[in-house]
Amino acid sequence: MRLVLVGPPGAGKGTQAQFIAEHLQVPKISTGDIFRANVSEGTALGRKAKSFMDRGDLVPDDVTVDMVRDRLADSDAAVGFLLDGFPRTVPQAETLDDVLREAADAKLDVVLELVVDDDEVIRRLSGRRTCRTCNHIWHVDFDPPQAEGVCDLDNGELYQREDDKAETVANRLHVYADQTAPLVAYYAERGLLVGIDATGPVDDITSRALHALRPFGAARTED
Ligand code: AP5
Ligand code: MG
Repeated sequence: MRLVLVGPPGAGKGTQAQFIAEHLQVPKISTGDIFRANVSEGTALGRKAKSFMDRGDLVPDDVTVDMVRDRLADSDAAVGFLLDGFPRTVPQAETLDDVLREAADAKLDVVLELVVDDDEVIRRLSGRRTCRTCNHIWHVDFDPPQAEGVCDLDNGELYQREDDKAETVANRLHVYADQTAPLVAYYAERGLLVGIDATGPVDDITSRALHALRPFGAARTED
């Protein structure tokens, strides 16, 4: 299955991407994770992306699109993929359509929108902690690790993202409304959009997501 997750910052894209991709047995491709890995390794790509990310602005389309084109050419993406955080502008969506058509005569199967309001986003982002080694996402109140600051899965150090400061979150929400929300109409017009309520317990949202994806080819699971 070729699937895109769309939703505002803090909607739970990364949290859900992990479970959905495992279930569908496709690679999870998160542009935010790829950029952050490049920033922490100090690569040329990371140096280009850092100032945009720190402000909560989008990294320019040309940089982002080349990175995704390369990643989609890897052999594991031939069976399908789950994109988390890409596309994020209408030009990125148009380029993705072109890349799939040119490389594999393929199309997206479905775009899953995670719907949450701004107040919930702010609660989620202010308490997020991420594992430095495995990228697992925790929350100090909603999904706390057993020991503060330590990942339960691999004992990695948990850190708070630079762009989760209140003023940067406000800009990210503004950027989402301005540049990314138009994608919802773009995909709805093409009959690819399915939206779910992304509030409530994480497991319930995963079940809701898999249920919504069934008509597009996700294998049946327990309800
Ligand atoms: P990116 O990393 O993609 O950030 P984002 O879209 O702002 O989304 P987040 O990762 O903040 O939120 P999420 O929806 O993944 O939520 P999560 O699961 O973590 O991008 C970062 C930056 O990179 C961008 O600002 C931009 O600069 C650049 N970039 C990336 N892609 C780009 C592109 N295509 N073009 C240009 N630039 C690009 O959950 C959040 C918190 O909530 C966690 O603590 C989690 O534990 C908690 N939580 C999750 N679900 C629930 C629940 N059901 N109940 C309670 N808490 C929950
Ligand atoms: Mg994320």
